[in-house]
Amino acid sequence: MSTMQEAGREKWSGQGIFILAVTGSTVGLSNFWTFPYITGENGGGAFLLVYVLCLLLIGIPVMIAELMLGRCGGSNPAGSMRALAACENASRGWSLVGWSGLLAGFLNLSYYSVIAGWAMAYVFRAGSGLFTGQTLDGVHSVFSSLVEQPERLLAWHTLFMLMTTLVIARGLREGLETAVRSLVPLLFLLLLVLAGFAWHSGAFDQGVQRMFHVDFSRISWQAVLAAAAQAFFTLSLGRGAIMMYGARLPGHIPIVSSVFAVALLDTLVALLAGVIVYSIIFANGLEPGKGAGLVFQTLPLAFGHMPHGAFFGMLFFVLLVFAAWSSSISLLEPAVAWLVEVWGVSRLRAAMLAGAAVWTVGLVTVFSLNRWSGYHPLSGFRAFRVSTLFDLLDLLTAGVLLPLGGLLIAIFSGWIMSGESSARELGPHARYIHPLWRFFVRFVAPPGITVVLLHAIHLI
Ligand code: PHE
Repeated sequence: MSTMQEAGREKWSGQGIFILAVTGSTVGLSNFWTFPYITGENGGGAFLLVYVLCLLLIGIPVMIAELMLGRCGGSNPAGSMRALAACENASRGWSLVGWSGLLAGFLNLSYYSVIAGWAMAYVFRAGSGLFTGQTLDGVHSVFSSLVEQPERLLAWHTLFMLMTTLVIARGLREGLETAVRSLVPLLFLLLLVLAGFAWHSGAFDQGVQRMFHVDFSRISWQAVLAAAAQAFFTLSLGRGAIMMYGARLPGHIPIVSSVFAVALLDTLVALLAGVIVYSIIFANGLEPGKGAGLVFQTLPLAFGHMPHGAFFGMLFFVLLVFAAWSSSISLLEPAVAWLVEVWGVSRLRAAMLAGAAVWTVGLVTVFSLNRWSGYHPLSGFRAFRVSTLFDLLDLLTAGVLLPLGGLLIAIFSGWIMSGESSARELGPHARYIHPLWRFFVRFVAPPGITVVLLHAIHLI
């Protein structure tokens, strides 16, 4: 084996850094805009209860399964699943689960990078005081002038992909570990600084109220499904990333406690993000918007009317960039590992090839937001009448591949893999947890994920 290939099979140096890296992957853009929005809309504390149940019943068991399969397989997702299928005397067709993860991670990164590019652009827009004293129309036109100009989007998308590729090219220890060792603690520090700012905004109580006030009357089926989908998305499941991180996990590091630590940290960040976002918005008497509008329009407007708003607004977008960066590296790693392991290319070359390929697919998103915004390839179907290529890409990735991958991972680890193999992988500390985990992954997660999947593709 060449040194390059050996470098491709480096292992995490300890449990602490492993937890930091997986937390870096899970804490991403969705913690800052999806989670606060769906929690606020669906009954605050009541929704949180449902969300925690989704984490415990579906998200955490599948995450344990994904790490376990990765560690047992020991290589890129497709290779790991093929090896595992052979080991368990199952059909080679199971390697498709790995392929689905590789594809989902690849596609997900192609548009994640474009959106991370918006956050980078906003670091400079906020920092230069562009939002200071702005009107609603003003912030709206700042946003439109970014997304409606493909050259601008392209420049930021290129820069973000370069940053991601650079980390990955340097390998696990020198690249990923070094990056998360500074990015993730900085992310926490920025979050605390912004929490301090929110505390002084005068509306901290309202922010807390919006996130934690218990209102069960707002819990609908839609809310339950949104909670399950968010648990899945935020835990980075079904996209090869977690399976790949598992493949680099030395045998002595316990999986179960690591997963609980990650889920806890990810949820704490999301809760704090929600309180910060709502405090700042309510301090200005604004109505919280939805999704991208919340972060790229309502929030800049709010920051623009607060003392030191330019500075703290800039910090907020730096935080967003860090969160996206530590996530994007985990999305690129599986494709790079595949190139290194299967094609024997050097890590540097593999990173450049995969980075360039993702960048190219990202053009679909870049142009869907402007020149191709009127192009609706599935306009013949009522549900997709006005879906752009970007909308369809998101639907295919987050709506279909992600739950499908998660479902098959649960089925494989619960039904195909023998109980002895999974017990061995979870280790002696998890002797009592193993039967519980196996029960969830066999009987609870599969029907739960199936419902999410059917809902995403408008079948229920
Ligand atoms: N978990 C990230 C988020 O919440 C998204 C992501 C998925 C990142 C998969 C990496 C891998 O935004």
